[in-house]
Amino acid sequence: MMNDQLRAIVQQMPKAELHIHIEGSLEPELIFALAERNGVALAYGSVEQLRAAYAFTDLQSFLDIYYAGASVLLQEQDFYDMTAAYLARAALDHVRHAEIFFDPQTHTARGVDIGTVIGGIARACRDSTVSATLIMCFLRHLSEDEALATLEAALPYRDQLIGVGLDSSEVGHPPEKFARVFARSKALGLHLVAHAGEEGPPAYIATALDVLHVERIDHGVRCLEDAALTRRLAREQIALTVCPLSNVKLRVFDRMEQHNLVQLLDAGLAATVNSDDPAYFGGYMNDNFIAAFDALPLGLSHAQRLARNSFSAAFLPAARKQQLLDEVDAFFAAAAV
Ligand code: HPA
Ligand code: ZN
Repeated sequence: MMNDQLRAIVQQMPKAELHIHIEGSLEPELIFALAERNGVALAYGSVEQLRAAYAFTDLQSFLDIYYAGASVLLQEQDFYDMTAAYLARAALDHVRHAEIFFDPQTHTARGVDIGTVIGGIARACRDSTVSATLIMCFLRHLSEDEALATLEAALPYRDQLIGVGLDSSEVGHPPEKFARVFARSKALGLHLVAHAGEEGPPAYIATALDVLHVERIDHGVRCLEDAALTRRLAREQIALTVCPLSNVKLRVFDRMEQHNLVQLLDAGLAATVNSDDPAYFGGYMNDNFIAAFDALPLGLSHAQRLARNSFSAAFLPAARKQQLLDEVDAFFAAAAV
């Protein structure tokens, strides 16, 4: 168990969130409110019944419920309300900057225009005190042609995007399936990230780097199964956006005590802590930090490293990044006295 002083420091330190699926921030109460507002029928009779269904056994069992929850999102205001709620919650956890994933194909498949999706999310970002940018994710269980069509449809909104990512069912859908759409995204000047090494093997991390040319790996916790890959990730300081509560809920690790966050940091990796799908996995940023620090031998120096890593890995202009890193160091200098 962490002591009260360390807990307060971890809660109050400035931090960036780099792995948050905005559809995964949709709380059951908001799902029901939006279902009513939009006249969408839900398969669950109450907030309690829906919450009771959040007993996941693996990634796919989660994704099935996550896509069902997103079915209530129809109007621009729905996307705005969801994003505004997340950003208000993140601010309470001293998140200073968030890079937000969204899954346009989950919505366009239901007839929602991509401009409605991006418009609502981006307007909430502009209205927030937290600086926030958008990473558009392609669903890897769908085809690359569908991803290419999604990128094409997003071109009028190119300026609202900082990057693209790759999410959904990992095993059986290796990064190289999306080589062309990532090359095209890179040519457009977009930053590149991909989920890899969550449920999938370390080889997916390598091909995400070598074939897709991603700049960060989302999750990546299975890298430790490959010593040469681990050394490479350390040498190149490729950031890993680790999500501790997600990893336990989806049984990547059976218990938080078994999570490899300490080993990742000890191996010199640029690991960060993030919430992934906070409404589904039991908590937002500080819940993730506290769950990890409570269960693992993590101390003050780890906290400072994790905070610094989050800003170092962010897609921010160099001057802004340095300013935020200086804020972290000033916070820890003040906390030490
Ligand atoms: N992994 C893959 N796809 C996802 C996730 C995740 O953790 N969350 C939302 N979509
Ligand atoms: Zn994720």
